[in-house]
Amino acid sequence: MAVTRTFSIIKPDATRRNLTGAVTNMLEKAGLRVVASKRIHMTKEQAEGFYAVHKERPFFGELVDFMISGPVVVQVLEGEDAVARNRKIMGATNPADADQGTIRKELAESIEANTVHGSDSDENAAIEIAYFFDESEIVG
Ligand code: TYD
Repeated sequence: MAVTRTFSIIKPDATRRNLTGAVTNMLEKAGLRVVASKRIHMTKEQAEGFYAVHKERPFFGELVDFMISGPVVVQVLEGEDAVARNRKIMGATNPADADQGTIRKELAESIEANTVHGSDSDENAAIEIAYFFDESEIVG
């Protein structure tokens, strides 16, 4: 299987609880390699742009407010079939539905404060990586 990239965000509920290491450890144990990482505090415009696909959804305003409520860690992850591998270790969107051993089951607080973002396709991974990183910042 090919080594590919995906994009990850460690969300404000996790930075607030000092869980960036715990999350990264679970990603690494799942076979993903962090090839770029930075801690940022998103602007409202950045968060609205990132989640533009959800702008008609009822939870959009609260989601944006949550994502700018504290720092996040944006990461590029590399691994075999990285998008699917990351989605598997993340678990279901709602932690109540997530499988045992997944990041959201073990660490998430709620459907909104669900600890991690992960791209849902190779195409979106490329778009999301380019939204936050220059290629020169990615070191495999
Ligand atoms: P979505 O892309 O459906 O989930 P995932 O993060 O698993 O790819 O939704 C994006 C984020 O929007 C999700 O991580 C948390 C938030 N969200 C809510 O706050 N309420 C909801 O009912 C849904 C579906 C998502």
